[in-house]
Amino acid sequence: MTAEIIDGKKIAQEILADIKYKTADFGYAPKLAIVLVGNDDASLIYVRNKQKAAERVGIQTVLFHLKEDTNENKLLEIIDNCNSDDTINGIIVQLPLPAHLNSNKIINRISPQKDVDGFHPYNTGLLQNNEEPFFVAATPLGIMTMIKTICSDLSGKNVVLIGASLIVGRPLATLLLNQECTVTITHIHTQNIKELTSKADILVAACGVANMVKKDWIKNGAVLIDVGINRENGKLCGDIDFDDVKDKAAAITPVPGGVGPMTVAMLLQNTYRAYLLQHGKL
Ligand code: GUN
Repeated sequence: MTAEIIDGKKIAQEILADIKYKTADFGYAPKLAIVLVGNDDASLIYVRNKQKAAERVGIQTVLFHLKEDTNENKLLEIIDNCNSDDTINGIIVQLPLPAHLNSNKIINRISPQKDVDGFHPYNTGLLQNNEEPFFVAATPLGIMTMIKTICSDLSGKNVVLIGASLIVGRPLATLLLNQECTVTITHIHTQNIKELTSKADILVAACGVANMVKKDWIKNGAVLIDVGINRENGKLCGDIDFDDVKDKAAAITPVPGGVGPMTVAMLLQNTYRAYLLQHGKL
């Protein structure tokens, strides 16, 4: 058996084409404000990718690129201005923020109706209650879309997540639980992790350790989702050792071309939805 490749790039292109068609056809002009503090290499690349993809589908972006030593008050003032600016539909603060800033305090200042990253406690709280939030975080949304191309009925599936972050693990666990999955969240302090991962029907790796998941970590016929973007010997790779597992898994997302493009597409879909929401069209 060779694993089916879940082509995130292709699915993302279809979503982006749909957004482009709708913005052009209806003359909509959604606008996304991106707040970036400092010059973290990965964040600079992610932000540039988001801006380029947004432009291609008719979504404007405005970038607030602030110095590394920007203080909390300045950042909160920018968010307040974006919240009250009717031409701005969505706001994201690229994470991680420099260590002197309290990211929770900054995120909590974003209006929940403009929180297209879905990180505000109002939105995460509604998700926890299995109610409809304004927005769900982009990476988990993209992962759910990819999983559903393989498993249309998730009820009763045994899902193991590696990583318990605010951005991926926690919201994804909630989305899966809301679909009646049995969810195990593992993290850096988990003991005997392989015992847990090797029972997973669906395994999601979001730990940021290059090629950590090997063949003996997985069950025969598992669906594997790789959130990692690592560089090893100059080559991009995920948290799952693709070549090692490909003959044992049923399906796998590649790196690059899997979760990454889906995250960008879902962020832009959220921004499009924010525009509709704020214009009474949702
Ligand atoms: N850093 C890594 N992923 C993300 C994301 O999805 N949103 C934001 N704001 N920052 C990130």
